[in-house]
Amino acid sequence: MDRNLALEVVRVTEMAAIASARLMGRGNKNESDQAAVDAMRRAFDSMNIDGTVVIGEGERDEAPMLYIGERVGKCEASCPAVDIALDPLEGTNLCAYGRPGAISVIAMAARGHLLNAPDTYMEKIAVGPRAHGAIDLARSPSENLRNIAEKMNRYVSDLTVVILDRPRHEALIREVREAGARVRLIEDGDVAGGLSTCFEESGVDVLMGTGGAPEGVITAAAMRCVGGDMQGRLVPRNAEEAERCARMGIKDIKKIYTAEELARGEVMFAATGVTTGDFLKGVRFLAGGAETFSVVMRSKSGTVRYVQATHRFDRKPGLAG
Ligand code: FBP
Repeated sequence: MDRNLALEVVRVTEMAAIASARLMGRGNKNESDQAAVDAMRRAFDSMNIDGTVVIGEGERDEAPMLYIGERVGKCEASCPAVDIALDPLEGTNLCAYGRPGAISVIAMAARGHLLNAPDTYMEKIAVGPRAHGAIDLARSPSENLRNIAEKMNRYVSDLTVVILDRPRHEALIREVREAGARVRLIEDGDVAGGLSTCFEESGVDVLMGTGGAPEGVITAAAMRCVGGDMQGRLVPRNAEEAERCARMGIKDIKKIYTAEELARGEVMFAATGVTTGDFLKGVRFLAGGAETFSVVMRSKSGTVRYVQATHRFDRKPGLAG
């Protein structure tokens, strides 16, 4: 994949972030999500790719745009065939209520290289580069914490674990607390939660718990770029979801996937902050424009680029309010 593609991708997350940030705090998560979807879909039209959405807004009949299987990009002359995993607004409620940590996000890989994760749950564990190799989803949370602490040359009591604040995590939270680690409960947004383990300034060391499976694949792509580590195991909520997994070719539902199995080969990742979070600032509206803060990464080079961009509404009519 052409390395410049990564810089093209960030334009797409920037557009989605601005569109959804404009509707921040209005209490309507569907409205801000739709704005992000529309803007992202439009932005794809200027990318020279033959893209297929493999993780998107849902099945074709439930999502009019950016549905799974949709082809995106203008593909003039020769263009790369890529698979795309996207979440135009990750943390719809965070944006709707003006809370920190909403992002717009895209991961891209060569065709067939991203796990086509069904819309179910996934149990996840993710750590930054300094704890790479220390995680194993087959072990208990406390064993994992001990191994992570040892690898990072830290005390378990000094580790910070991010967990989605959900009733299903009651036992997990209890065990992490009993192991002595610090817990940061988040309302939503486990892609940003996972990614923050790779950015020391976030103060986050581990992501644990169960969240969306599609978000798991996106997180894995990001972890691959920045040298972090992740494992995931699908957790269907009911028989129908288990059947859907089987239809999508998942033979062993208990399989523990590594980051490399969730997002294979060369991958690219871009995220733009919608509301300010641990490692990305949110969109700032200015006179006649807006400022965005993004991160762009490629697994091949491992380069992590922060892109701070100022957008002028008079030059980009699509952005005008
Ligand atoms: P949305 O952006 O689709 O609202 O997802 C937010 C999120 O918190 C994800 O980050 C996470 O993986 C998932 O929801 C968890 O699902 P649930 O809210 O059902 O626990």
